[in-house]
Amino acid sequence: MSFDESHLPVTPTWAREFESLCEPSQTFTLCTVSDGVPHGRTCVFRGWLFDDRRSGVLVITTDARSDKMKDLGLDSYRKSAIKNSSSPEPSPSMNPSPFPSVISNYKASPSQSGIDIANASAAHIDDIDKNSTASLSNSPFEGVFYFPKPKKQVRLSGQIIPLSLALPKPTDYFIQPPPGKTWNDEVMRVWNALSDEMRVSFHGPPPGQPLSAQHEKLLDAMSRGVDGNDPSSGLANFVVLLLHVDKVDYVQLKQPIKRTIITRASEDEWNMQNVCP
Ligand SMILES: Cc1cc2nc3c(=O)[nH]c(=O)nc-3n(C[C@H](O)[C@H](O)[C@H](O)COP(=O)(O)O)c2cc1C
Repeated sequence: MSFDESHLPVTPTWAREFESLCEPSQTFTLCTVSDGVPHGRTCVFRGWLFDDRRSGVLVITTDARSDKMKDLGLDSYRKSAIKNSSSPEPSPSMNPSPFPSVISNYKASPSQSGIDIANASAAHIDDIDKNSTASLSNSPFEGVFYFPKPKKQVRLSGQIIPLSLALPKPTDYFIQPPPGKTWNDEVMRVWNALSDEMRVSFHGPPPGQPLSAQHEKLLDAMSRGVDGNDPSSGLANFVVLLLHVDKVDYVQLKQPIKRTIITRASEDEWNMQNVCP
C-alpha cells in the first residue's frame, strides 16, 4: 500500500490521543540496544512522517556521527561522517562543503527551492554499510513518554528507519512518499522546519568525541554565529529517524487506573487489549 491521496492509512487508534498529550517539542526517552547493551537518551518528537498523523510514524532528528547510529547498524556511516568532520577547522574563507556530494543528480522540488540540495554535502555512499538499507527488521526501539499532569505514560515500540540524503531509501517500506514527492523531499521538509540554531549544531564537532581546543574554538564561534560555515553544510550529518510503531503500552496512573496494550495487526489495523496495570 502506498501512502497517497487515494489510499491513506486510517489514523492509528492511539495516535490522536497521544498527539493531544504532547507539548510542542515534546521530549521522551529513546531506547535502543547495541550488542545486548541498552542505551537511553532524551530526544525531541518532531511530528509525524509527511506531517500527517495518519502515517502513525514518529519523526525525530539526529546527528550521523552520534553513537546511536551504531545501534541502527550504521557504524561505518557514522565513522565516515566523523572522519569527514575532522577536516581542517572551518574558517570564513573555507569551502563550506568539504564532503563529496552523492546527490549531484538530485533536483530540489520547487517547495525546497530555498536550499540548494544538489550542493548539500553528504558522507560518501561507498562508506555506507551495504546491508544497511532502511529495513524494518533489525533496529528495534522503545520510546518512553511521561505526561506528568494527566499522569500518563506511553511506551511506543517498533523499528527505526533512518533517512538521510546519502542513505539508501526504504523502497520496500509499505509507506512511500505522496505522489510527486521523494524521500529526500521529506528529509528537507524536516530540515527546513528546524530552527537556525538546530541546523547550525549539525556542523559542530562530532558528538561524544574528546573535546579538543579546536573543538572549543569551533563551539564558541558557532555560539556567536561567526564560524563561517554555511548552515546547509550541516546537512551532511543530518539524519531523520522514522519511528515505525508496532506496539503501544498506555498507562494511566490517575483514577480510574488503567493500562491498555495496542498492537499492530497489519499495515493499518490495530488490536487493543486492556490489561491489569
Ligand atoms: C532536552 C534534550 C533534547 C534532546 N533531543 C535530541 C534529539 O532530538 N535528537 C538527538 O539525537 N539527541 C537529542 N538530545 C541529545 C541526546 O539526549 C544524546 O545526548 C545525544 O543524542 C547522544 O546520544 P547517543 O550517544 O546515544 O547517540 C537531546 C538532549 C536533551 C537534553
